[in-house]
Amino acid sequence: MTENQPRVFPPDFLWGSATASYQVEGAAAEDGRTPSIWDTFARTPGKVHAGDTGDVACDHYHRWQDDIRLMAELGLGAYRFSVSWSRVQPTGRGPAVQRGLDFYRSLADGLLERGITPAITLYHWDLPQELEDAGGWPERETAERYAEYAAIVGDALGDRVSMWTTLNEPFCTAFLGYGSGVHAPGRTEPESVLKASHHLNVAHGLGVQALRSVLPRNAEIGITLNPGVIRPRTESPEDVDAARRIDTLQTRIYTGPVLHGGYPDDLRRDTARASDWSFLRDGDEALIHQPIDFLGLNYYNPTVVSAPTGGDVVSRNDGHGSSTHSPWVGSEDVEFHLAPGQLTDMGWVIDPTGMVELLTRFRTEVPNLPLYITENGAAFEDKVDAAGAVHDPDRIAYLHGHLAAVHQAIEQGADVRGYFVWSLLDNFEWAYGYSKRFGVVHVDFDTLQRTPKASARWYAGIAASGRLPA
Ligand code: NOJ
Repeated sequence: MTENQPRVFPPDFLWGSATASYQVEGAAAEDGRTPSIWDTFARTPGKVHAGDTGDVACDHYHRWQDDIRLMAELGLGAYRFSVSWSRVQPTGRGPAVQRGLDFYRSLADGLLERGITPAITLYHWDLPQELEDAGGWPERETAERYAEYAAIVGDALGDRVSMWTTLNEPFCTAFLGYGSGVHAPGRTEPESVLKASHHLNVAHGLGVQALRSVLPRNAEIGITLNPGVIRPRTESPEDVDAARRIDTLQTRIYTGPVLHGGYPDDLRRDTARASDWSFLRDGDEALIHQPIDFLGLNYYNPTVVSAPTGGDVVSRNDGHGSSTHSPWVGSEDVEFHLAPGQLTDMGWVIDPTGMVELLTRFRTEVPNLPLYITENGAAFEDKVDAAGAVHDPDRIAYLHGHLAAVHQAIEQGADVRGYFVWSLLDNFEWAYGYSKRFGVVHVDFDTLQRTPKASARWYAGIAASGRLPA
């Protein structure tokens, strides 16, 4: 391909957008929904920027038809959304609430009517509070409850939804929720991080089994991970080892058992001070290692680490791109550094080469497993101008660079089947509340009015043509 030719994507490439239940739905106390850990966390003073909560969010629960219309106008081919567990199974146990299931059924039907493929994420961080009260993810029982919940949702929607993701970014659930405490439930317990990670892995394994037992044969089941693109600051053995440790904690703790059938030995060694791993039972690794149909990857930015320097440490990366000063288990002696380059409003460096690196890694590691970019995008300080338009050239440049990277990886042999921009709408950005805008559609959080940004129109053009201009 020469420099000035457009990059042509495969004809059946899926062009989508993504959201998650707590971040967009609102209607927090409607139709039988009970609190999740994020409702509780957001109400805890000091945990979320400006005391923001997901009580109303984008009000997607009531405005989903408008939002589907918007997706159709933009010509998007797929929509990745998550199911709120406490909306369909309020206490995390027992019978399902029909109204909760009906909401997701209507949503899926509305999408299908407009030719938009629904892609369900079963767990995007909003654990029913009652299950956290019983111990949360550090308890094995949570994985068993999850499998029941997966079967309920699979049974109710399997006739209309063909793409299923068990978990979104289990790293964040475990390490941010139970380690650094910057996410719900806000616990800071080193051993709980490992237990939570393991039980999330078990939940994935049991969840795949449960889904296979209720879904039609042609359903596709996968998991979404956020593997770090971890770069050592120098090639010194100490820095290279620091990068290995963080990669092991952020990525191989999940990819080891999920994709390869076992936990890496170095993970057990690196975390020996925190735990003897007695929570790992015989047969667990085989259980977690279920055949899956695709791997979902979320990519935002690379991370630079080193051994202790006593120097210019910027922060400890929270593995989801932002920073926290609380160390994770096993990362105590690692320093995180700001990579050079332009930053987004999250303070995350813009570097599409990390996208190529990530896709190349999994092309090599699991050559026969189809890949999807289930999230990629950027937050910028977007404003509606006097003419009612939102100009977001930085986001267009970000998306352009990252789509070019996806294309490059495909050209090199990666089997990437689709791309979901994060996000369709500006929404509740977890501990940052509504202060960070990731949407290609602007949301006015006073009026809830939606305004497609210039990037939405731009992305629609790419989706329609399947070509990225040079
Ligand atoms: C990953 C998460 O899955 C999503 O919920 C979050 O909003 C984005 N990254 C941006 O931080």
